[in-house]
Amino acid sequence: MAGAGVIGLGVAWRARLRGLAVTVVDPEPGSGASWTAAGMLAPVTELHYGEGPLLALNSASALRYPAFVDELEQSSGCEVGYLRCGTLVAAWDAADMAGLTDIHGFARSLGLETELLSRRELRARVPASASGLAGALSAPSDHQVDSRLLHSALLRACVAEGVTMVHTAAYQWLLRGDRVVGLRLADGTDLQAPVVVLACGAWSARIGGLPPEAVPAVRPVKGQTLRMRTVGPPLLTCVLRGSVRGCPVYLVPRADGRIVVGASSEEVGFDLRPRAGAVYELLRDAQALVPGLGEAELEEISTSLRPASPDNAPLIGPSRVPGLVLATGHYRNGVLLTPVTADAIAGLLADGTLPDEVAPFSPTRFDQATAFPQATAFPQATAFPQAATFTQAAIEEDVG
Ligand code: GLY
Repeated sequence: MAGAGVIGLGVAWRARLRGLAVTVVDPEPGSGASWTAAGMLAPVTELHYGEGPLLALNSASALRYPAFVDELEQSSGCEVGYLRCGTLVAAWDAADMAGLTDIHGFARSLGLETELLSRRELRARVPASASGLAGALSAPSDHQVDSRLLHSALLRACVAEGVTMVHTAAYQWLLRGDRVVGLRLADGTDLQAPVVVLACGAWSARIGGLPPEAVPAVRPVKGQTLRMRTVGPPLLTCVLRGSVRGCPVYLVPRADGRIVVGASSEEVGFDLRPRAGAVYELLRDAQALVPGLGEAELEEISTSLRPASPDNAPLIGPSRVPGLVLATGHYRNGVLLTPVTADAIAGLLADGTLPDEVAPFSPTRFDQATAFPQATAFPQATAFPQAATFTQAAIEEDVG
């Protein structure tokens, strides 16, 4: 297994439970998108027009969450902050409310549970919301998990079950003929394996040695989130999102009083530097929805890279290269898709079959398409950069 974010560890844990010997290679487990993610489990409110096939997979994974969390918390002895809190999408103005009304109709036509709230109903449910908001769409089944707690629980469960962790970067694929037979690590060690699962997120295309046409079609999309801490009674008890003058923002309240605010979306390659403008926009728009957030402590700015595929959907299953299985490209839904991906890949490794629900997400679906430029632009191996996390203290130090 290459990659120890929530997807890699989820697969490793489930594969180990199926009786397989598993080694996971990652220089710094959980330092990528799993660290920055807000952990929204949002098949409804992350739904974008044109992503219909993804909805079924997202919904299937959301349904698995309660049992997955129960088993994981039992196995690891750690809570993961799974909160069935629901989500509200606030309307900034009347035009926005009209858009949400369309989405409500679309969602209902797909059998999804949503409800429209008037301005007054929104204020009654979220007293901290700004007074001028025009109303909201409620998605009562869109919940959240604390992605950092989820990751540490997966790590503990993996270790408890006997998964071997190797804290070195994967450098190059080992090939025998056209078959992947293992990985060369950055320290020169070769690890042989009958099957290697690639779960390196945005860095999935950067392990060297594959023929260009077999390099996974995954590119980085930078995302920044902020961690804020409030004191006193919680400002929010459900996820609140909205589009403030066309700029999307979400606020995810944790049980401990923290609020995660996200997220920027920037196509800037492997650039992990926090961008001041993105921080400004997130703070501006989050406060436009919840003015009281202006009093919160800004604890952290976190930046990482979402792994995006050409159709925004994940790559789950065997690649065109024998011995190489992909579990990557989860883009905006990696935390949500962890249970369904983990079970699907563990099943593939254990009995050679994949459930029908992941069939539309075969990594080979792009084979007839034009070669993906980003994927072929990085044929050489590079070390895995880490997600950049900047604490307030570090920021103060930097600005002197
Ligand atoms: N799933 C939220 C995001 O990618 O920002």
